[in-house]
Amino acid sequence: MLKPLLQGIALMAAATTLQAAPIDLIIDTDPGADDVVALFLAMASPDELNIRAITTVAGNVRLEKTSRNARLAREWAGREDIPVYAGAARPLVRKPIYAADVHGEEGLTGIQVHEPKAPLAQGNAVQYLVDTLGAAKPHSITIAMLGPQTNLALALIQRPDIAKGIKQVVVMGGAHFNGGNITPAAEFNLYADPHAAEVVLASGVQLTYLPLDVTHKMLTSDARLKQLAAVNNQASKLVVDILNVYITHDMDLYGMPGGPVHDASVIAYLLKPELFSGRRIHMSIDSREGPGFGQTIADWYGVLKQPANVMWVEEGDAQGLFDLLSARLARLE
Ligand code: RIB
Ligand code: CA
Repeated sequence: MLKPLLQGIALMAAATTLQAAPIDLIIDTDPGADDVVALFLAMASPDELNIRAITTVAGNVRLEKTSRNARLAREWAGREDIPVYAGAARPLVRKPIYAADVHGEEGLTGIQVHEPKAPLAQGNAVQYLVDTLGAAKPHSITIAMLGPQTNLALALIQRPDIAKGIKQVVVMGGAHFNGGNITPAAEFNLYADPHAAEVVLASGVQLTYLPLDVTHKMLTSDARLKQLAAVNNQASKLVVDILNVYITHDMDLYGMPGGPVHDASVIAYLLKPELFSGRRIHMSIDSREGPGFGQTIADWYGVLKQPANVMWVEEGDAQGLFDLLSARLARLE
């Protein structure tokens, strides 16, 4: 009798070890319509993602609104256990820009906003990053970077040694093969603070970029919006209402068949990296005033013979992302 019991315990132990430990994650974000979709996906995945904090930055809209919207997403997801720290109200150097034309004046298209119950955490997001990354075990914390990289850049400038606490930074940002979205050359997050992105790139932390090259393939469709609506709970209704308005800008501008869920692609990459593919390449950032301002120069074919410094993700399984998003939204209220 003892043998089967021991076998059962051994199997359970094996299953436990097979289940990877959750990713210790900080989400830095400028909600933002697609940011909220990404936050829902992340907050619905506690087995894989141990979200230590959400840190907010000015970007799509001003800091007060991105911070309010992050608190709203947390409230709607029932995850008020996650602290929200407000960070930088403006970029390092350049004049601030916003994208209210895409995300709406309140930074959230298609839905009504209100003042969330749970307040911001005490303290600035930059100080939180310095304290947390500085005290972390080496290479233990992952950062999902869904907006301009100002907060992390300021933390690294203050304390370059905190880089050792970072496992990897997964960035929604940049563009190469098909040009930018805010200018012909630049993608919004990089254009909004290219100097910050240069600081993060120069820090030597492990970087993965999900540029427009892949996020412009992660598109909604009528069928995918129906798939999300069929989840039939508050979270999925919010996501569909947000996306129904958010996608019109890019569909009209580019004549795309659907709208890109840029930021959710970063969270999907963390949850199911097998949905994506790319290659390690050398990338640089143009922060000179002029038509190339904010451009990411991705040496996809290695012609410069420079050492690779980022993983550049270029392909993704869009249906796989929407299947994952639908399944995880079903876990929320
Ligand atoms: O260019 C798309 C990116 O800019 C997304 O992160 C969107 O939320 C905006 O921040
Ligand atoms: Ca964003």
